[in-house]
Amino acid sequence: MYILHFSDFHLFAADKESAHPRADTVAAVEKVLADAASLTPPPDLVLISGDLADCGSAEDYALARQMLALFDAPVLVVPGNHDRRDAMRAVFSGTIPFTPEPFLNFDMVHKGIRVIGLDTIIPGKVEGELCAERLGWLADRLADEKAREETTSGVTFFMLHHPPFGLASPAWDWMTLTAGRDELRALLAGFPGHLRLLTGHVHRPLITSFAGHFAAIAGSPAFQYAPGLGWTSEPPLSAEPYVYWLHHITGFGDVITSPRMIDLG
Ligand SMILES: [Fe+2]
Repeated sequence: MYILHFSDFHLFAADKESAHPRADTVAAVEKVLADAASLTPPPDLVLISGDLADCGSAEDYALARQMLALFDAPVLVVPGNHDRRDAMRAVFSGTIPFTPEPFLNFDMVHKGIRVIGLDTIIPGKVEGELCAERLGWLADRLADEKAREETTSGVTFFMLHHPPFGLASPAWDWMTLTAGRDELRALLAGFPGHLRLLTGHVHRPLITSFAGHFAAIAGSPAFQYAPGLGWTSEPPLSAEPYVYWLHHITGFGDVITSPRMIDLG
């Protein structure tokens, strides 16, 4: 089974909210999606770890849904700091089993693969948090025996926009998951299954671990930052190829993760 992990499309139908997204962001994302849709076999799940839109208008999400319709597989999203909960919920609540307002959390199993999505945003802020309500919801879900039994692949993807780990960079670390990190680490460390954490926000592809589990950050087709550690101010942009992740669940319960690189010019 194949699971695609994208992030930070920053799609905009008309106006941009932030300065960096390339003028041809829609064309760049179309190129990425066309590449992904051409893979054989086709993906079983498409996961997008936030900042689907640049300013979160209803038109942005209508455009996103239209562009993502080329996949037969379920497309699951969590909000990023540039998304807007209400507009995102309005467009995707028919296909993603979001929890009731205000948060856009979900927990679902598809073809024996479990995906838990966690809303980490603070409206109006760049950084993220997990409040007591969201941590409580997650604790209940992680303890749910029925969901574990339905996860016949043995693999759970855990998706959130803000990385819950430091990035060895003062320019980045203040805007990661700034509250609830230790509580999240404790919850995930006790999870008995094969869990893989997927995030975005950083606009660079990275792999690390968190609470003993594999963790990946997907890049952004809208704009990418230069590599390096220790940045004390915003890193320069980079024209490197965009990277998304392809997770292949083998018949042995393992997951092979490979980067898929797309030159966007
Ligand atoms: Fe972003």
